Amino acid sequence: MWKIREVDIANPIVIAPMAGVSNLAFRSIARQFGAGLIYTEMVSDKAIAYHDKKTLEMTRMDKEEHPLTMQLFGHDLDSMITAARYLDQQTECDLIDINMGCPVKKIVSVGSGAALLKRPEAAVELVHAIVQEVRKPVTVKMRLGWDEHSICCVQLAQRLEKAGASAIALHGRTREQMYTGKADWSWVKRVKEAVSIPVIGNGDIQSAIEAERRLQETGCDAVMIGRGVLGDPWLIQRVNARLSHESMQLQSEEEKLQWILEHARRLMQIKAEPVAIKEMRGHACWYIQGMPFNNRMKDLLTKVSSYVELNELLTRYGEFLALSKEEQAEQSAGFLDRCGKWLQQIKEEEEIKDGNSIIVTEKSCGIDR
Ligand SMILES: Cc1cc2nc3c(=O)[nH]c(=O)nc-3n(C[C@H](O)[C@H](O)[C@H](O)COP(=O)(O)O)c2cc1C
Repeated sequence: MWKIREVDIANPIVIAPMAGVSNLAFRSIARQFGAGLIYTEMVSDKAIAYHDKKTLEMTRMDKEEHPLTMQLFGHDLDSMITAARYLDQQTECDLIDINMGCPVKKIVSVGSGAALLKRPEAAVELVHAIVQEVRKPVTVKMRLGWDEHSICCVQLAQRLEKAGASAIALHGRTREQMYTGKADWSWVKRVKEAVSIPVIGNGDIQSAIEAERRLQETGCDAVMIGRGVLGDPWLIQRVNARLSHESMQLQSEEEKLQWILEHARRLMQIKAEPVAIKEMRGHACWYIQGMPFNNRMKDLLTKVSSYVELNELLTRYGEFLALSKEEQAEQSAGFLDRCGKWLQQIKEEEEIKDGNSIIVTEKSCGIDR
């Protein structure tokens, strides 16, 4: 157990904010698999300040989600304060995080995300002002610095602590690196030694051994995992098991396929089916990573557009995976061709059904065709 100010966190596994991923459905899975703390995807200060409906919807959370961090991005003092107040007073989140790490051009070109690393005065002023305005703890997620010549994380973390930040999450890359190279965790250690608030280390954790090693080597309070849990929420269980010296059974391929469907159902509770299934294509490909003939299967998965199609395809894939390795090798070509045809057939049936429902709707509306 560790704490960020008064917020208790059961274990040192933090799930990173990931735009386009960290919605209610994904977070509920990460929570169920045992994450200690979960971040929402970043939301825009201006969009909150202007009460953009879609953005406010992104701040919706479930009762079981505690502890949850909601992340804001922006740079303008007034709208950042307005948005932070909203998260403080109108949502049940436990922590408010300020994004100082996003490297995307669209974000940094206006002065937000990692661009704040180039303006430490503004970054410190922002955190100081927000801390004065909200009751919930305010944290910062940042990178090492803008580029290798301007690494500023240690001094900035110290100044942010003085400004009232309650924790720092550090991704061990510069903005210029984007996602290339390797995260440099030596800076996580240096930041941890320089401040008294909790430090969360982040970057490239893909296994339980790595998570444990990073915690030990740097002394950081927790590890943040992003891409490592995409299609592999079991990584959270593996890390927890390793840290508590317990053994863990490996999940079966069948179980993974079942979780794809479960993930899809949870997404469909928050989004319309076509949107949810489109989003699921990427997740499904991550879940089947490493399974036999997954490359050909991924081609097919990127074409699914309804839950029925996804279910059919995965059911047939499950039957194929249940065969012996020899049988799989023998039948793979025919099986994958058949899958393509099944998918096509379902799509045609769905089109006919859709067509019928249009005719029915138009008829019931009195439209004469
Ligand atoms: C798809 C995607 C979306 C991301 N969105 C955000 C975001 O909204 N806010 C943020 O601070 N970082 C974001 N990140 C960065 C991650 O939080 C994390 O710092 C980075 O992926 C490194 O950790 P990892 O190697 O464990 O993935 C995103 C990363 C990915 C891959």
